[in-house]
Amino acid sequence: TVMKNISGLRNMEKQLEEVLGVSKVVIVSGDSDQYATVKNEMGLACVKEIERALGAINIIAVTGGSTLAAVAEMMHPLRKAHQDLLFVSARGGLGERVENQANTICAKMAEKAEGRYHLLHVPDQLSDESYHSLMEEPSIHRVLQHVHRATIIVHGIGDAKTMAIRRHSGEEILKRVDTEHAVAEAFGYFFDQTGRVIHKVQTIGLQWEDLFGAHSVIAVAGGKSKAEAIQAYCKKGPDSVLITDEGAAQEILKNF
Ligand code: F6P
Repeated sequence: TVMKNISGLRNMEKQLEEVLGVSKVVIVSGDSDQYATVKNEMGLACVKEIERALGAINIIAVTGGSTLAAVAEMMHPLRKAHQDLLFVSARGGLGERVENQANTICAKMAEKAEGRYHLLHVPDQLSDESYHSLMEEPSIHRVLQHVHRATIIVHGIGDAKTMAIRRHSGEEILKRVDTEHAVAEAFGYFFDQTGRVIHKVQTIGLQWEDLFGAHSVIAVAGGKSKAEAIQAYCKKGPDSVLITDEGAAQEILKNF
């Protein structure tokens, strides 16, 4: 029966690749909404994908969230001879708990992978004024250069409303999430069902264009509750490797 389950997952991966229009899907068994250990399985699958994507020079940009924290948890030494590994935080502090912030995750991943790291020591949501002055700060400018030249981007995807609340977004954003039917959130961008960006946090971190310049984008998100978010994000997102779980996969495929 184990073999049967595995071939069942492989089938689902192929189906998901087709319906989501992404070139590679990896599904781990279980539903991370129900069992926390499933997140670690996604984490491990993600580490394998990162390893596969490595070249001679690697700038790996990472976002935050509990799923990315699981990737860091499962990280192991990656560096082979002649490979340079630089991890950078794709985003500043996102109003997340410290263990789920991009900076914390980035430093932990780099240490476990035996690479170097650069952190983004800025709040994620900025006023116009601080946005412009921080952009001119040389130390920040240097880190941003790396983010914009990332060769591998690893990010989470969340449910729009959950994320707006988790980040203590203002009344206006919460309202727009409702009225404009936002269903997904990733790296500070909110998307509706068609994949249209309905709101973006004013940030100096990773920008939408950066995703299309990277040679590998890996999205990690699972759980039945994220099915709609994953689907929406994939509509207009870059071609990615999607690491997900059975819970999300079954829910997405139900509609096809
Ligand atoms: O806040 C960082 C972030 O990566 C969001 O962009 C994303 O929506 C969320 O975390 C996912 O969080 P989790 O993995 O905890 O569901």
